[in-house]
Amino acid sequence: MVLFVIAEATLLSSLLPSCVVAREVFADPPDETVFPGEEDLVARAVSSRRREFVTGRRCARLALAELGHPPAPIRPGPGREPIWPAGVTGSITHCAGYRAAAVARTADLAGLGIDAEPNEPLPDGVEATVASPREGERLREAAAGAPEVSWDRLLFSAKESIYKAWYPLTRRWLGFEEADLTIEPGAGTFNALLRADGTRIDGGPPLTRISGRFTIGPGLIITAVTVDR
Ligand SMILES: CC(C)(COP(=O)(O)OP(=O)(O)OC[C@H]1O[C@@H](n2cnc3c(N)ncnc32)[C@H](O)[C@@H]1OP(=O)(O)O)[C@@H](O)C(=O)NCCC(=O)NCCS
Repeated sequence: MVLFVIAEATLLSSLLPSCVVAREVFADPPDETVFPGEEDLVARAVSSRRREFVTGRRCARLALAELGHPPAPIRPGPGREPIWPAGVTGSITHCAGYRAAAVARTADLAGLGIDAEPNEPLPDGVEATVASPREGERLREAAAGAPEVSWDRLLFSAKESIYKAWYPLTRRWLGFEEADLTIEPGAGTFNALLRADGTRIDGGPPLTRISGRFTIGPGLIITAVTVDR
């Protein structure tokens, strides 16, 4: 059975504090209507991109409704990041078989990032681009204990989550080589030391490290990070 219900996010919520509202779904609803005010954003998109965009934004609006925000277009900023209503931070992810969004009040959290990936090894050659040799060694150690998890993909997802929290707070690029990631497989957590200028536009303390959590779903790796105020 295909599940179209956009539900309270069981997988994602397990990774996030209770101040975060998350919504997730494992397939696209049949109605692909683009929300008014967002049509231009996918006017020339292929249908797979249009579907993930529409469903991701639906998840986001349902989560925003829980925070008391009426439905409104969610436009992208200059770095393609979603522009949230004033006083809100959030993140969107989509991959084959999964779409989700998570939002929180900036009174509770400065920022957050979420990412989902298939639990499959990265394509040949990609690990060398996203992981340092030292990180690669740690991935091999993790794989020895739990070979059913694609740890290279998990590292990639963790770094994508980190970037989604990093960029809106710094408005700066962060390269894969600028985050040194350590995964704690047993705890379901990861920590990254960041070697870039982490000065925040909200006046908060500079971002020098970001921690997050991961979970393994049906064929999926899901990661999430939060940044305190
Ligand atoms: C932006 C990026 C992180 C998106 O991740 P992805 O795995 O390709 O795709 P996902 O489906 O999970 O997420 C896409 C969503 O991310 C969000 N996003 C895009 N750019 C963003 C940014 N600069 N900041 C925050 N969120 C962003 C958008 O909501 C987008 O969905 P939408 O276009 O439908 O609104 C990725 O494409 C990228 O550019 N990575 C390079 C930078 C990086 O990761 N550095 C590693 C630092 S350790």
